[in-house]
Amino acid sequence: MSTAKKSYARVTTNSLIKMKQDGEKISMLTSYDFTLASLVDGAGIDVILVGDSASNVIAGHETTLPITLDQMIYHAGSVVRAAKRALVVVDLPFGTYQADSKEALKSAIRIMKESGAHAVKLEGGASERQSLERILQAGIPVMGHLGLTPQSIYKFGTYTVRAKEEAEAAQLIADAKMLEEVGCFGVVLEKIPAALAQKVAEAISIPVIGIGAGQGVDGQVLVLHDMLGMSKEFSPRFLRRYADLHTTITQAVAQYSKDVKAGDFPNANEQY
Ligand code: KIV
Repeated sequence: MSTAKKSYARVTTNSLIKMKQDGEKISMLTSYDFTLASLVDGAGIDVILVGDSASNVIAGHETTLPITLDQMIYHAGSVVRAAKRALVVVDLPFGTYQADSKEALKSAIRIMKESGAHAVKLEGGASERQSLERILQAGIPVMGHLGLTPQSIYKFGTYTVRAKEEAEAAQLIADAKMLEEVGCFGVVLEKIPAALAQKVAEAISIPVIGIGAGQGVDGQVLVLHDMLGMSKEFSPRFLRRYADLHTTITQAVAQYSKDVKAGDFPNANEQY
């Protein structure tokens, strides 16, 4: 298998499947606004996820549950306007698809129509089959999400690793096969044992993107604000920080404040 990176004019769901076939790992990051999405896209990320993690990192909620469909569409539109190459996938937020498949389709259509996104993602397995089928039949590409599904946090009661027990692992494998069977173009596996994630990636033909799921999968996703080190508090084992923006931004803002108070900003060259 070749691991050489090929260039795709615009990443599509088909190019992701081709990447898996070619053994090329898929890079995915979240974004929620135009400015950061422009940087993420320009740096060559394959997939931008407008995650409902916006509820946490943008709005400051404790969970992903409060974010609304209108708010997701607002974030998604900003990201779509920035993305020249990346495939833009948008989370269906909590409460917009679980009631029935008709509501799920309506929510997915609103995202596609009002934001210009390329695909949607939703959490869950067997219980969401009807909704998945209905959305897919309308021609909307769907990505699944199994393992730790944050919209079910009050059912789990904890953000700990999922599917460590045999029964839950078997259900997760069955759900991943179902996602492939109905026609999803990929699946996110969140916080499950690496060996199980690898087994799933080997068992299905669609790309498996991991977050806290080890290296044996077809690609990786992280929350942008986490990997940029915007916060010092969130430190799960799977998170690698590629920058320390918490320190950089704090120092820059403190220096600006100091300069303003001292009358050092603006100087003679910074005025008209
Ligand atoms: O909302 C999100 O950011 C996600 C990722 C953690 C996969 O779903």
